[in-house]
Amino acid sequence: MKNHPIYKRVEQWEIYDRITGQGIYADVDKEFLSAERYDWTLLTEIELFRNAVKGCKKVLDIGCGTGHPSLYIAKDVGVIIGIDKSERMIEIAKNRLRRSGADNIVFEVGDAGNLKFPDESFDAIILCGSLATLSDKKKSLQEIKRVLMKNGKVACIEANWLYQSTHERHFQREGNFVLTEKGSIRYRYVRRSVRPHKETDYRCVINSKSALGKKLLSNPHFLKHKTLKAEMSIEEVEPYCDEIEYDEQESFDAEIIVSLFAENGFKDIVVSGYGIMYDLLDSAGLVSKMASYMKELSQAEATISRLLDPLRTEMLFLVCKPNSTIVQ
Ligand SMILES: C[S@@+](CC[C@H](N)C(=O)[O-])C[C@H]1O[C@@H](n2cnc3c(N)ncnc32)[C@H](O)[C@@H]1O
Repeated sequence: MKNHPIYKRVEQWEIYDRITGQGIYADVDKEFLSAERYDWTLLTEIELFRNAVKGCKKVLDIGCGTGHPSLYIAKDVGVIIGIDKSERMIEIAKNRLRRSGADNIVFEVGDAGNLKFPDESFDAIILCGSLATLSDKKKSLQEIKRVLMKNGKVACIEANWLYQSTHERHFQREGNFVLTEKGSIRYRYVRRSVRPHKETDYRCVINSKSALGKKLLSNPHFLKHKTLKAEMSIEEVEPYCDEIEYDEQESFDAEIIVSLFAENGFKDIVVSGYGIMYDLLDSAGLVSKMASYMKELSQAEATISRLLDPLRTEMLFLVCKPNSTIVQ
């Protein structure tokens, strides 16, 4: 079906390039807000990476986006190089770097699958949410292994797709028709498969003169509210589409992310979980009371992360070392 000419595959980095400058990828210097769940997570990530790479001489941040977490951990290491395939992300990272005044960070455009560094250049490599977005993970992990020193380490953060609220939040927009301001009809559909854990996000343009287009345009509810939740699958909608753009993302749980690293030549793999402190405080009605301690709580969460069951946490933190055995 995806071989049909109306289907166009878009790589994850292109999606990030489009949303550069918006929301969490805005060209602003992050001011962490005490009552924001997301900010607690970001602060914990900074502490986890800081603990993992403290004292390293040369660190590579792959898929650095606008500079999180490099900008916050730079003072604990010798030099950090951040690379991203999106030029627009790098432009913002450079702006933030100029404003930060740090002199030991370099941000540049680069591809994880084709790193422009000699063998064994780095003593640590970090990936903050970027592994799941890399289109060629095998090639990228081989490149990571090549540029990592034999006694170096990798630290990686990913969302845990077994965590229920991650799942629920992500599925809010499944199967929706939307009437845009320009009068075109869009359809968004998210398909999630388990084993392999994969998510495909379809964005379609419906032909407004097709039977489906006409039906929608004669629906008073749709015309009034400009949105309609649909029971239809992508296969049912496909015949009425002019274009279907889709992107695919593999998603991880603790077991899958460990196998990915193991299969690609890494050993001593340890996965821990984090991203529950906010939930715990929230369920006890304590967020506003404890908010002034946000930084300390985030540090505490990073410290106890190794004790948390990765299966029950929203996020996964993985550290590992290169295995000297050659992987084909
Ligand atoms: C989820 S964002 C994370 C950005 C940043 N690390 C953060 O935590 O805010 C993933 C980033 O990986 C980048 N990316 C995806 N594929 C890439 C590739 N092959 N090489 C380099 N960067 C890539 C995307 O452009 C995007 O900026």
